[in-house]
Amino acid sequence: MKLTAATPADAPAMASAHAQAFDTPWDEADFEDLLDGIGVFGFVVRDEDPAGVLICRTIAGEAEILTVGVAPWARRRGIGQALMTAAIGIARETGAQAMFLEVDVGNAGAVALYERLGFARAGLRRDYYDRGAHGRADALVMRLDLTAGRD
Ligand SMILES: CC(C)(COP(=O)(O)OP(=O)(O)OC[C@H]1O[C@@H](n2cnc3c(N)ncnc32)[C@H](O)[C@@H]1OP(=O)(O)O)[C@@H](O)C(=O)NCCC(=O)NCCS
Repeated sequence: MKLTAATPADAPAMASAHAQAFDTPWDEADFEDLLDGIGVFGFVVRDEDPAGVLICRTIAGEAEILTVGVAPWARRRGIGQALMTAAIGIARETGAQAMFLEVDVGNAGAVALYERLGFARAGLRRDYYDRGAHGRADALVMRLDLTAGRD
C-alpha cells in the first residue's frame, strides 16, 4: 500500500477508488476541480490498483473532510485510518483549530473509525442524505479538536 499526497494528475486514480467505495461516485473532473480549489488537499492510496481516496478542505481555521472512501477489497487493513491520520496531520500543520465531517448515522463502521481517531458527536442534520428508494437518512456531524497539545 502506498499513500501519496494527491495532485490533479491523480484524478483518475481518485475517481476509480471513489467509484469502488460509493454508490454515487465523483468523476475525474470533480477531483481535478476540487484539487484546484483554495485550501483543498487530498490523498490517494494505491495497492496495485487505486484503493482509497480522501479530500479535505480548510477554510478559516476549520478543516472539513469532503470525502473518504476505501474500496471494499481493501477494507479493514488500516487504509481509512491512514488517510484520516494524514489529513489530520496536514490540517494541524496549516493551523486549523478543528476538523469536521458528516456521516450517515447508520454507517457504524465509519463512525467507529472516527471515534477511534478522537472525533466527538457534534450535531445531527435530519434527512440530510437522499437514499432513493430507502428514503432519507440523518447525518451525524462529528468534530475533532486539533488544538490539543498546541502551545
Ligand atoms: C469507512 C471506511 C472509509 C473505513 O475504511 P477502512 O480502510 O476499512 O478502515 P480501517 O481499516 O482503517 O479501520 C480502522 C478502524 O476503524 C474501525 N472500523 C472501520 N471499519 C469498520 C467496520 N466496518 N465496522 C466496525 N469498525 C470499523 C475499526 O475500529 C477499525 O480497526 P480494526 O480493523 O482494527 O478493528 C470504509 O469502510 C469505506 O470506504 N466505506 C464506504 C464509504 C464510506 O462510508 N465512507 C465514509 C463516509 S463519511
